[in-house]
Amino acid sequence: MSNTPSSLLNVERKDHTLTQNDTPLFTGLKKHADRNPVQFHIPGHKKGAGMDPEFRAFAGDNILSIDLINIAPLDDLHQPKSLIKDAQDLAAKAFGADHTFFSVQGTSGAIMTMVMSVCGPGEKIIVPRNVHKSVMSAIVFCGAIPIFIHPEVDKELGISHGITPISVAHALEQHPDAKGVLVINPTYFGIAADLREIVKIAHEQDVPVLVDEAHGVHIHFHDGLPASAMQAGADMAATSVHKLGGSLTQSSVLNVKEGLVSPKRVQSILSMLTTTSTSYPLLASLDTARRRLAIDGKELISQSISLAENIRERLSEIDQIKCIGSEILGTPATYDYDPTKIIISIKELGITGYHAEVWLREQYNLEVELSDLYNILCIVTPGDTQYEADILVEAMQALAKEFRHDSSHSVPEVILPDIPLLAVTPREAFYADTELLPLDDTVGRVCAEFIMVYPPGIPIFIPGEIITEDNLRYIHENIEAGLPVQGPQDETLTKLRVIKEHRAIK
Ligand SMILES: Cc1ncc(COP(=O)(O)O)c(C=O)c1O
Repeated sequence: MSNTPSSLLNVERKDHTLTQNDTPLFTGLKKHADRNPVQFHIPGHKKGAGMDPEFRAFAGDNILSIDLINIAPLDDLHQPKSLIKDAQDLAAKAFGADHTFFSVQGTSGAIMTMVMSVCGPGEKIIVPRNVHKSVMSAIVFCGAIPIFIHPEVDKELGISHGITPISVAHALEQHPDAKGVLVINPTYFGIAADLREIVKIAHEQDVPVLVDEAHGVHIHFHDGLPASAMQAGADMAATSVHKLGGSLTQSSVLNVKEGLVSPKRVQSILSMLTTTSTSYPLLASLDTARRRLAIDGKELISQSISLAENIRERLSEIDQIKCIGSEILGTPATYDYDPTKIIISIKELGITGYHAEVWLREQYNLEVELSDLYNILCIVTPGDTQYEADILVEAMQALAKEFRHDSSHSVPEVILPDIPLLAVTPREAFYADTELLPLDDTVGRVCAEFIMVYPPGIPIFIPGEIITEDNLRYIHENIEAGLPVQGPQDETLTKLRVIKEHRAIK
């Protein structure tokens, strides 16, 4: 986007031109609020006057004055024709998409829309095993058959990366009838695969590529970052503007390129999954975040990259702390990376990332983005300055000093479970009659729930898969190693929910 001539980013209307400096929806809402209409419509708080005074004072009258509903002058997200359409069209230009749809159901809603736009009951979709739960929700809703690809696992860091072009090629060779390939790019940790190559491979078979771009809204706006989904030629991308692009939490976009997918079908499925009471503050924040990314994004992101590199250099000087940088690149799964993600490996200190997260909270009032067995992850955005950077470095120096001599805690190894066979679709398993059985009596039965270990965040079982002895052993090993096994209804994991077998009645 940074090299696109500005005239190509404009939106032409009959009697005027909209540029990336315009915010049609936000400006329209402010004008409407300035007219101060008498409101006999919802929301019943009526510009805050009818709500709890403490919350009103805290939230502020400005935001409450644009907390409105889809009356005619304010357009309708379900059938956009004026303000929302203009805002979405400007966003499409900025993101290099043919169409952009605003989502007030987060990236989860946009991901479910992508999956349900390309496949239906009994149809196949190729997905990484470590997909976000919204992908599996959509697969249950629409009755599709997931074809899993193992993501590459970095044993040293104990994290999973993305899927590789070669694994996509193999999956498509074995399943040429797949209706789509879903890729997580970049990953939560900022690692990117060669997305252009993955798109090329899938498009050779006319299979659309759907990108979970939850952690990459900013990459489109800076040439020094991995290629965005739209730059790589993907067909759809669910992109969390709220995570790293400066809009309000829950607001995301779904970018679409025409050709292999129908934008009309995308619009109607997104609408089926979306509340009829769409939040205008969320939508307006998407409109303004797009302006900021399009106009100032390159400069702001350059500053974030410099700040992050500065933090990385200083953290790397601390004994027993590793701050991952470009040395991670060079494998098919680590084609590129986003330096604004600070992956700090504390494995050598002999404490877990979870422990470090709690310590940093209690000692430094510092909250990290996530922690796992070996690492903590911190994100640097235009919201950070040298002040926050210095606190992080100081806190990590203190953490290293505190735990330097503590090597009593041995850290368990991250291993990878085999993917079991799917006996019935996840949807059939979800709706089947089920029963709870003691864990060790479930071998050969069909699982009815999700069981996963984090890290590396890869499910051991999903609903519909046949339980094997090997995978049960894997669960036991993880429990013994103190790794969190997540998902089962019975949190003690002594029992597992399986599909009931109906035997002939004598
Ligand atoms: C990889 C990935 N995809 C999708 C999502 C869902 O995004 P949202 O929270 O905006 O619904 C997340 C959320 O953390 C995520 O990590």
